[in-house]
Amino acid sequence: MLTTSQTDIDRILTALDAYRGTHPPALSLPPESYRSPELWELERQKIFHRSWWLVAHADQLAETGDYVAVSIAGEQIVVTRAADGELYALSPICRHRLMPLVKDGAGHTDSFTCQYHLWKYGLDGRLKGAPYMGGNKEFEAEQCRLPGFAVADWNGFVWVNLDANAAPIGDHLDLAAPQFDNYRLGEMVQVDSWSMPWQVNWKLVMENGHENYHVIGLHRETLEPFMPGGGDLHVETYSPWVLHARIPFTLPLPSDTLALSDIQQRHGMLLMTFPTGAFIALSDRVVWLSILPQTVDRVQVVGGVLTTPELARDSAEVELTQQAVTAMINDEDRVGLEAVQRGVTSRYAQRGHLSPKESPGILAFYRNLATALLDDNPWPGSR
Ligand code: FES
Ligand SMILES: [Fe+2]
Repeated sequence: MLTTSQTDIDRILTALDAYRGTHPPALSLPPESYRSPELWELERQKIFHRSWWLVAHADQLAETGDYVAVSIAGEQIVVTRAADGELYALSPICRHRLMPLVKDGAGHTDSFTCQYHLWKYGLDGRLKGAPYMGGNKEFEAEQCRLPGFAVADWNGFVWVNLDANAAPIGDHLDLAAPQFDNYRLGEMVQVDSWSMPWQVNWKLVMENGHENYHVIGLHRETLEPFMPGGGDLHVETYSPWVLHARIPFTLPLPSDTLALSDIQQRHGMLLMTFPTGAFIALSDRVVWLSILPQTVDRVQVVGGVLTTPELARDSAEVELTQQAVTAMINDEDRVGLEAVQRGVTSRYAQRGHLSPKESPGILAFYRNLATALLDDNPWPGSR
C-alpha cells in the first residue's frame, strides 16, 4: 500500500518548531538537517541573505586600499577601506558581463580592474573607466557602480549584511558590551589571522561552538587542563541574535595589562551572534571566529587573535599565542567536525540525546535557527 511520507524538509521543520516551545527536546537535530539541499536553499533565503556576518578585524582594513573578500553561500562580498576613510561592502561582480573582480582573501589595491575587458572600479564601487564604451548611447558611466551591502565596525570587529537595509548589528552587540568592558576590545591589536576551508555543515560547527562539553574529548590535552569540559556554562541571551556564555577556568587568569573583574579572570567570556559570529576573551587574549557557509557540507572558517597593544609588542608572547590557538582550536575542532560530517551521512544516523553540560547553548542556537527559518519576520527592527 502506498502511503504519503513526509519529505526531509517537512520533518526537519517540524523538529525545529519544537525548540521554540517552553519545553524544547534535549535532542540534536535530525541528521538530514546537515545534508539536505532543500534546507540549504531555505537557509540561503531566510538566513544567509539577511544576517550579519563577522568577516574581518579592522586591523586588516586599516589603510586606504586594504580589502578583504569573502563568499557566503556563493555570493561574493568585498570590504574595502576607501579614500574617504569609510568602509564599503560591495558586490565585486563586474557590471559589464559579470566577471568577479577579486578572489577571496585579503589584499591592497587602489582600484579593481576587471580582467575580462578592463572596466575599472574605485574602492567605493564607482566605475572609473570602461574602454570603448563611448559609442553606446544607452550606457551612463556615472550611474554604473557595484551594488553595496550593509557594513559595520563594532569595537574593531567588521560585519557585513547582504541586506543593505538590515537593522544595525551594533544595537544588539551593545547589549552584551558591559560583559566585555575591561578588555579594551577597541584598542586590541590583531596578531594573527586565518582563513581555511572545513568539510562540514555550518550548523555542526555552531553547535560545537555553543558547548564546552567536547573539551573533554577533542581538546583533552590542550584546553581541558585550564577550561574543563565538565564546567557549567552560564548562558545569557540578550537578543535573538546575541548570546553570551561564561566558561569557567580551573584557576583565575589575571592579566598584567588589563584590569579584569573577578568574573572575567575566572571565565572564558564568549559572545556569539546568530548565525555564526563569535569571539572569546581568555584573559588578555581574544580569539574571534566566523563560520562562513559555502555549500551544504563546506564552510570557510575565518578568524584571528587579538591582544593588548602592550603584549603585542612582545614577539615571544605573540608567537606562543599564535601556535597555541592554531593548534588547539582550529585543528582539533576541524578534524573532529569533519569526522562528524561523515557520520551524519550514515543510514543509521539518528538524533542524539544532549547532556545538561551542552544543552543550554545548543538549545539556544536551535531556538534561533527555528525562529529564523519559521518566522515571517524574525528580524525585529529591519527596515
Ligand atoms: S566583464 Fe568585466 S569588463 Fe567585461
Ligand atoms: Fe572546540
